[in-house]
Amino acid sequence: MADDKLNVITICGSLRKGSYNASLARTLPSLAPPGMSITPAPAWDKMPIYNHDIQAGTGFPADAEAWAAAIRAADGVIIVSPEYNWSIPGGLKNAIDWVSRMKDVPFKDKPVALQSCAGGVLGGARMQYHLRQCLTSIDAFLFGKPEILVTFAAKKFDEKTLELTDQPTIDIVKQQLTGFEKFIRRLNGKK
Ligand SMILES: Cc1cc2nc3c(=O)[nH]c(=O)nc-3n(C[C@H](O)[C@H](O)[C@H](O)COP(=O)(O)O)c2cc1C
Repeated sequence: MADDKLNVITICGSLRKGSYNASLARTLPSLAPPGMSITPAPAWDKMPIYNHDIQAGTGFPADAEAWAAAIRAADGVIIVSPEYNWSIPGGLKNAIDWVSRMKDVPFKDKPVALQSCAGGVLGGARMQYHLRQCLTSIDAFLFGKPEILVTFAAKKFDEKTLELTDQPTIDIVKQQLTGFEKFIRRLNGKK
């Protein structure tokens, strides 16, 4: 029996109001196992485009520091993101680039799980594999299976409320969260 609840944060790669990925991220707390609490990470969308001159001049932007602090403090991170042009949305990649230059890189040794919703048949798979590569370069620990690739997203969420209605998707997300809890506890020794 877990005596220490895990603090997991979500990072969403889409900024749009009607985002399927944001809706999935909002649903996760209700699908999480009892030993895991899930809350949103601070916003990343106001960080300037990475420029070493800013870093060397005025230092890291306050938003990058806040984002990094939340990642450091979390037991695990779940990134829920669309695929843009077969890859990681630029804004999200920019935020990762900022924190990757910090002395205490927040993703180092951090358990990370990935989820994506997309309009098409691949469900954001190419973005996920690029994220795996990018986060591995900064020493994150990427959770393996099950993968959450929500294909044809418009059919799986309620058109008006954006609620996730597709039962097989709900079931596999629950499986991933249960597996992610075990993965984190194996890595951080929290029983
Ligand atoms: C700039 C841009 C690029 C996109 N590229 C892809 C892509 O490469 N693969 C894909 O499956 N969908 C792509 N899409 C469609 C997204 O899957 C779809 O818009 C999805 O709903 C976006 O996620 P969201 O609902 O969370 O905002 C793209 C959308 C945008 C805006």
